[in-house]
Amino acid sequence: MSELAGKVVLVTGAARRIGRGIALRLAREGARVAIHYSNSEAEARATAAECGDAPVFRANLESVAAIERLFGEVGSRMGRLDGLVNNAARFTRIHPLEVTEADWDFIHSVNLKAVFFCCQQGAKLMLKTGGGRIVNISSLGGIRPWGMHSHYCASKAGVIHMTRALAKALAPEITVNSVAPGVIPFGDLNEHSIPMVEATPARRPGTADEIADGVAFFLKSTNFVTGQLLAVDGGLALR
Ligand SMILES: NC(=O)c1ccc[n+]([C@@H]2O[C@H](COP(=O)([O-])OP(=O)(O)OC[C@H]3O[C@@H](n4cnc5c(N)ncnc54)[C@H](OP(=O)(O)O)[C@@H]3O)[C@@H](O)[C@H]2O)c1
Repeated sequence: MSELAGKVVLVTGAARRIGRGIALRLAREGARVAIHYSNSEAEARATAAECGDAPVFRANLESVAAIERLFGEVGSRMGRLDGLVNNAARFTRIHPLEVTEADWDFIHSVNLKAVFFCCQQGAKLMLKTGGGRIVNISSLGGIRPWGMHSHYCASKAGVIHMTRALAKALAPEITVNSVAPGVIPFGDLNEHSIPMVEATPARRPGTADEIADGVAFFLKSTNFVTGQLLAVDGGLALR
């Protein structure tokens, strides 16, 4: 029996792609998964069905009030929160000379601000039952500088450093760690990502289940593993 059996874990952006892979994996290990989505309702319900009729929660994470409502609903419907995986994010490709205030806010409202307030609300709920585990999905782009994604890189570097600060603040009851995916395509490899795959020491792209391996590791670890960053990128960060 996995240490995750019976644990209540909320995965944000769990309808599709990496979030879906994480949710399916945690459900397979016996966790009671809470599926968050924003626009992808049909996909969220399909993922939830595959997770053993898991409950679904809709929230636009741009809004702190919506985040507070989300965690209130999770608390009342699930009764507790043991794990939180902050996976939801946005990604755009814009030259820094072209980035507008709206472009910046579009990325940072979800990738950094929402992750902070989900950690805050998640931690408050976890503390009611003694503590828990938070895993923030960052990115290789938070470790390596990508010129056409400076606004996105800043948000993900922010997630990585915020993870460390929160790990100190929330210890010893709650651990906060980060998984940084490399290239994880879903049929959408393009002229920008193909060269990255070719440069990857593993010589292939990664899968959602490989990201879920890293997430599960942190969710199952003792509180002696906190503030850490695990790149699951086939070695690309080493280039
Ligand atoms: N795929 C990669 O190669 C890669 C590489 C590095 C890092 N990552 C990171 O890994 C994570 C998952 O990647 P992915 O490619 O699977 O992500 P994705 O498909 O681009 O986004 C995941 C989910 O985020 C949710 N989301 C976006 N804006 C939201 C908002 N305002 N409120 C609530 N939810 C919102 C969406 O939910 P709805 O669909 O329900 O609207 C979306 O399905 C992200 O943190 C990403 O930055 C991915």
